[in-house]
Amino acid sequence: MEKINIAIDGPAGAGKSTIARLVANELGFVYVDTGAMYRAVTWSILQLHLQPDQETDVIAVAKRLDIRLVPGQEGQQVFVDGRDVTADIRSAAVTGNVSRVSQIAEVRRILTDKQKLLAQDKGVVMDGRDIGSHVLPDAELKIFLTASVRTRAERRYKEVRDDRADVTLEQLEREIALRDRMDEERETSPLVQAADAILLDTTEMNISQVVERILELCRAKVGGGK
Ligand code: CDP
Ligand code: CDP
Repeated sequence: MEKINIAIDGPAGAGKSTIARLVANELGFVYVDTGAMYRAVTWSILQLHLQPDQETDVIAVAKRLDIRLVPGQEGQQVFVDGRDVTADIRSAAVTGNVSRVSQIAEVRRILTDKQKLLAQDKGVVMDGRDIGSHVLPDAELKIFLTASVRTRAERRYKEVRDDRADVTLEQLEREIALRDRMDEERETSPLVQAADAILLDTTEMNISQVVERILELCRAKVGGGK
């Protein structure tokens, strides 16, 4: 298929990374998980025992970090200054602090510049919160994935219950709702559905139905000569 850029945005647990990776594999495109970049900065801040809301410190770290996203069939590996942090950046501590780090406008500017570069040759499926609205406003296809907060919490619960034995579904639902609110209410490039994005509510859809729907939309775009 002709190379286009596809932006996938939405709240936590909507299925963005799972769906984006599968769509990219189907099309032979590169998958870019921008949340991993915000998580990598947050992980470094915690490693250095700095405070996630100390803007000067966070900006200095974001500026000098060498963050590399290495695409693979199983997903994307994430390296920070040469160290593989793919698993570390998914910790509860990082998840609990990432939305504070991502409020900082200068951090967003630094990471957005890197994201634009990754997509400059097209053939990219990029997921995040502000991809269609801000990072790739010219993406040929924009999807806004969502699902009820309960469904999103249930999906996450299945993933984390082995590692966080004490966590309850209600607690995860509160954590997700808080992160969504911080992402939606921040001043700089908040989580928002771009005016030209297609809304897909996946509450009642399984993964392959969502992937198939997006592939159909891709074919329609490319076939339609856009
Ligand atoms: O996978 P999950 O929904 O848990 O989150 P993620 O995509 O890994 O993103 C983690 C956090 O990074 C989000 O809650 C946002 O605070 C921030 N983020 C952002 O601000 N802008 C993006 N383009 C991507 C992520
Ligand atoms: O990246 P994001 O936080 O939006 O979500 P994800 O990490 O891709 O998906 C969260 C979980 O929901 C994963 O375990 C997916 O397998 C699952 N999922 C699902 O059960 N049904 C869907 N339609 C989409 C995702």
